[in-house]
Amino acid sequence: MSDKRKIVVTSALPYANGDIHLGHLVEYIQTDFWVRFQKLRGNECVYVCADDTHGTPIMIRSRKEGITPEELIARSHAEHLRDFTDFQISFDNYYTTNSPENKALSERIFAAMDSSGAVTRKSTPQLYCEHCKMFLPDRFVKGTCPKCGAENQYGDSCDHCGSTYGAEELGAPKCTTCGATPVVKDTEHLYFELEPQHDYLEKWIPGHTTSDVSNKLLEWFKEPLRGWCISRDAPYFGFEIPGHPGKFFYVWVDAPIGYIASLQNWCEKNGRNLDDYWPSSHGGDESAVELYHFIGKDIIRFHCLFWPGMLHAAGFKGPNKVFVHGFLTVNGEKMSKSKGTFVNARTYLDNLPPEALRYYYAAKLGGTTDDMDLNLSDFVQRVNSDLVGKITNIASRGGQMLQKKLGGVLGSLDDEGRALVGKCREAGDTIAKFYEERRFNQVVVEICRLADAANEYFDRREPWKTVKTDPETTRVTLTAALNAFRLIAIYLKPVLPAYADKAMALFGETEWNWASLAETRENCALGPYEYLASRIDSKQVDAMIAAATVKPGDSGEVSHESRASKNKSAPVVHKTIDVPQIKPEIAFGDFEKLDLRVGVVEACEIVPKSSKLLKFTIDAGPLGKRTIFSGIRGAYPEPSALVGKEVVFVANLAPRKMSVGTSEGMILYAGEPGISGGVVSPFASAGAGTPVT
Ligand code: MSP
Ligand code: ZN
Repeated sequence: MSDKRKIVVTSALPYANGDIHLGHLVEYIQTDFWVRFQKLRGNECVYVCADDTHGTPIMIRSRKEGITPEELIARSHAEHLRDFTDFQISFDNYYTTNSPENKALSERIFAAMDSSGAVTRKSTPQLYCEHCKMFLPDRFVKGTCPKCGAENQYGDSCDHCGSTYGAEELGAPKCTTCGATPVVKDTEHLYFELEPQHDYLEKWIPGHTTSDVSNKLLEWFKEPLRGWCISRDAPYFGFEIPGHPGKFFYVWVDAPIGYIASLQNWCEKNGRNLDDYWPSSHGGDESAVELYHFIGKDIIRFHCLFWPGMLHAAGFKGPNKVFVHGFLTVNGEKMSKSKGTFVNARTYLDNLPPEALRYYYAAKLGGTTDDMDLNLSDFVQRVNSDLVGKITNIASRGGQMLQKKLGGVLGSLDDEGRALVGKCREAGDTIAKFYEERRFNQVVVEICRLADAANEYFDRREPWKTVKTDPETTRVTLTAALNAFRLIAIYLKPVLPAYADKAMALFGETEWNWASLAETRENCALGPYEYLASRIDSKQVDAMIAAATVKPGDSGEVSHESRASKNKSAPVVHKTIDVPQIKPEIAFGDFEKLDLRVGVVEACEIVPKSSKLLKFTIDAGPLGKRTIFSGIRGAYPEPSALVGKEVVFVANLAPRKMSVGTSEGMILYAGEPGISGGVVSPFASAGAGTPVT
């Protein structure tokens, strides 16, 4: 610990139109670990965040609830902050993007971008409702999907087939506000041009992100960078763009500026100067402060391309690093409302202690972009065996015995005790390095190793036996075990702050920082032993899952899950199948297991010596190429006719070894064209065989 660093840290701003859930917490909890570690080390670290309040979804949601957007965002702000606080996430400032600071900063940054020549104007066609006198945002128009023909779809994507499109491509479009048919009209929009920063960004990205992130981003640099549309038409809940009446900043423009606004608000409240914390051409020394953003992998483009581009164009310091984490899965799968694994922060807190989740997340987070799994039985097991059974056990056994049998006074260390405490102290540099690199899982491994050593020492010295015959040797034993625990608890403080505070009180201390590791508590009184952590029961987990389970048909279910699958091509056959030999009804959970994908037939050949089989090579985009054998030669005497066609196939079927090769999936076929109720089957009978396209 040489010089005190000055560090500004952010987590992505959660949208104000939704509840905080366990997925979000992967981000806020790990940022909190890192910030608390920096503070424990004695660095100056300011952690700012805010609610992301602007945009169309907030407008729609508040309309539906019959309240103003301001009322909606005020309610969310209070709920979000309460959730974060109860999870012991400690922001230095939790603000809102709908603030005067953010408005002023957005205008200032836009003006700087504009005068640098980076802002252009382009006319594009968009749907306009003549009755409502407004251009219709994607979610204000519904019509027929241009790809699959499903009715009643929004203007951006189809809930049935998952395809995305422009609102003007919808068939029979209707304004969702008044029901009128909109017209296509040109509207002018503002674009932030990135191509002038091609070279700058290409150099910037590798130094400020990890290699997996930068490799992905740099793929776009083979071509000129496309401009980014930064304006939206009224009505829009957001900031109007100065000099462009009726045009508003797109929410993703003022959202990251909200980081600076929250920091500025913190500066105002604490008598500091923004230039000293987020330097810009206005003032401040770029190298005097470090800036880090924690984000999830879904918003890389905004933080590693647009945002550094905006900051650079506007003359503001850019982040030193963008730390990207993966997504949360629960029991190995995407969170699901119907399975009860889409758990809100509050539902968790109603059933389980926050420490358990913080500990488990620490044990799983390695500072990479890999997804992270919350396996619920592993969760219960690790909290009970490691946090309670291993770590806390040292304090509870040692502390209680010292209180009850030895007057609650610590003695001094003998050689063996000094060796144990020394071992715990020596681990400090390694643990600090792991914290700094966000390898929290390694921090936990180290801590468990030390706890094992302390338990091993305790068991070897058998204080429960010696206490009857030799109280002073017992006191020496307990003093060593408790001092080892004390160091472990200091190491754990960033992960378990409330737990560490209770441990600190046990030792009669009032402040712990990294320097406290150098001290040993000898010949002094111990405070009363308070419960530090208790075992959790799988029944609590069951109750949480039950409370989070949304039955099909309940509101929220359909809209959420279809939104989640928006980026997947998962077409669903929408003609009702109504044939006598209909299969037994299946649960939605069974259907959900099928991973249906669209692929393009790249090659299709006759299989020698087989009258039925055709061998397909399917190009499945990101999934790569698949070989699939399908028994429909009867319907396609000329297999080359299938080349280039899109087909739907089951992508997650176990590969099947056949005499002619291995089949890696199954293609679906509809019956005769035009016959409703034809069977969709993998091996359609003769005469059938039109691929679902
Ligand atoms: N409002 C934007 C961020 C604007 S930042 C200037 C947004 N909000 S969000 O509420 O959708 O997500 C907030 C953060 O939580 C993002 O970093 C996102 O990646 C993260 N997560 C949301 N769901 C998640 C999981 N299921 N798993 C892990 N992190 C996830 O994006
Ligand atoms: Zn209308």
